[in-house]
Amino acid sequence: MATSDAVLQVLSGAGPRSFSSDLCFSNLDLAFRSKHIKYVRKRASRHMKMFKCSSVLQDCIGKQWFKRSGDGDLYLSGNATIKRLQLLRCKCQQAERVSGVTTEGGNGTWFVDGAKTLNLNGAVNSPGVLELGDTQQLTSEKEVLTSNGSVNKEEESLTTNGAVGTGRDASRKASVDPIEEEAWELLRDSVVYYCGSPIGTIAANDPTSSSVLNYDQVFIRDFIPSGIAFLLKGEYDIVRNFLLHTLQLQSWEKTMDCHSPGQGLMPASFKVRTFPLDGDDSATEEVLDPDFGEAAIGRVAPVDSGLWWIILLRAYGKCSGDLSVQERIDVQTGIKMILRLCLADGFDMFPTLLVTDGSCMIDRRMGIHGHPLEIQALFYSALLGAREMLTPEDGSTDLLRALNNRLVALSFHIREYYWIDLRKLNEIYRYKTEEYSYDAVNKFNIYPDQVSTSLVEWMPNQGGYLIGNLQPAHMDFRFFSLGNMWSIVSGLATRDQSNAILDLIEAKWSDLVADMPLKICHPALEGQEWQIITGSDPKNTPWSYHNGGSWPTLLWQLTVACIKMNRPEIAARAIEIAEKRLSRDKWPEYYDTKKARFIGKQARLFQTWSIAGYLVAKLLLADPSAARMLVTDEDPELVNAFSCMISSNPRRKRGQNNSKKPFII
Ligand code: GLC
Repeated sequence: MATSDAVLQVLSGAGPRSFSSDLCFSNLDLAFRSKHIKYVRKRASRHMKMFKCSSVLQDCIGKQWFKRSGDGDLYLSGNATIKRLQLLRCKCQQAERVSGVTTEGGNGTWFVDGAKTLNLNGAVNSPGVLELGDTQQLTSEKEVLTSNGSVNKEEESLTTNGAVGTGRDASRKASVDPIEEEAWELLRDSVVYYCGSPIGTIAANDPTSSSVLNYDQVFIRDFIPSGIAFLLKGEYDIVRNFLLHTLQLQSWEKTMDCHSPGQGLMPASFKVRTFPLDGDDSATEEVLDPDFGEAAIGRVAPVDSGLWWIILLRAYGKCSGDLSVQERIDVQTGIKMILRLCLADGFDMFPTLLVTDGSCMIDRRMGIHGHPLEIQALFYSALLGAREMLTPEDGSTDLLRALNNRLVALSFHIREYYWIDLRKLNEIYRYKTEEYSYDAVNKFNIYPDQVSTSLVEWMPNQGGYLIGNLQPAHMDFRFFSLGNMWSIVSGLATRDQSNAILDLIEAKWSDLVADMPLKICHPALEGQEWQIITGSDPKNTPWSYHNGGSWPTLLWQLTVACIKMNRPEIAARAIEIAEKRLSRDKWPEYYDTKKARFIGKQARLFQTWSIAGYLVAKLLLADPSAARMLVTDEDPELVNAFSCMISSNPRRKRGQNNSKKPFII
């Protein structure tokens, strides 16, 4: 039986279908059609400032795409692209504060009732249309929603639908800690508002910095720890708003020199811009302005954004217990668009995602083009999350089949070929090369000289890690922290591998944690290697920034990984080190030197994800069960498919020998 057949038999039974049988997708290519459908203004929301927001939203209603025009009409459209600065506008004019009950008929506030599909006056509405103004506060200060609708007071709870309690106890305990208090204050100061609602956090709020660059924007990847911190605090609105607004940006028309990237791409960052409204001195207009990489330094495509978006969406559902967001048709469509982009066929021989340099946290040239570990770990995590959240429907059978196949192939590939420890290094050291055959041991034709003496000396007797990248004749042996941590969190690494990675962190503490956790990668590129690989980048000099710098934000990923493996004491030790300096040093973006002794040469101060990363690490340590919203456990279906794949592959030479411990070589 062929490998893919074996996988398919385990994971699905359905026959092949056309990939784009989902109407929402097939409609994307249709030419613009216009059919005006009126929609109603919702009653003004209470307890909040009211804004006159004329918004143009996009929904997928009844499997058709709709756009909402500036005057409040919805019109049908087959074209999913949104013109730059044309949409997501919010003409903001502060109106009087309304207290108590809502005013019937409203006064021009453009809210849409998300619960109804058809209003009495015949206006069409969508289940789950984004409300620009007051998004429903899902829980009150003292309440946690459970799946049966009952309310638990105060305590941390794991609801039957998997919702994780808010860990409020933890945050209350934590609030006595002055560093945490300061961090919360700074995090709240970094919140960005759009039409009066919190929508994200600014990347850095550094009053000492002379050039802002794009640090005044909301970065998708930077917001993840902020979002998790707010979720842990029981403040769900900001995360919900962020998820829904960035979803709309996904469909933006994006071009660079007349070329458009794939439809599902999420922006790297966005900014809320305010303009005076034409002909009205008292009013301003707010516009969301995304950057998909067309303005970013180096014009790098943010491949990680969409993957992080899926991860946060899942966490939001798990933590708040509110599954209505992930069930919305537009959100389901957004997930599918990201998946379609990632799962599209290309020239690849590998199941790993092929990307350009700088497509993730390391967003400038650092020699991580190809199949970098960080992207693979996020990809795996997002595939698992999407699989959990996609509502089954006729049109998605093929997508789910492709997703399942990819999950199995991806985990096999990473566990088998990215893993190194002392034993594997010795195996590579003795590799034969130039093997032309189906059952080559050295499949990628790695020349043994690539195993440097310094690497052999560095590798501890106990422990190992996943390498940074694998290409034909090339293994990037650098240790990348985020990729390794997220491989543990997502279950891309096996349990044995996950423990071995943590063993390595303990064994190499003075290199990886040193005076400030956590090194982004180890070792740094130096000398000629630095010249050739970074292009002599003065920002990425050895042991600085992306090239062996230390990033406090990585604390939260380390903490989740340690909690998952039931070794929280490792994270606690790292946090203790960070705590000695973070506040005193004004929350820098990164640290420099081999032992992280200096604040980074060009590091921003008051970097939001340094602040949020610290807070998440503290909150999770105080309430480890809350980490469940981020962790994915080994799925028995996948494990089964995985072993079928190994046993059914006639070309696999070492399969027999590895039957007991298939992943650690
Ligand atoms: C730098 C980092 C990137 C981050 C951005 C905003 O470019 O490399 O990962 O998202 O700053 O903080």
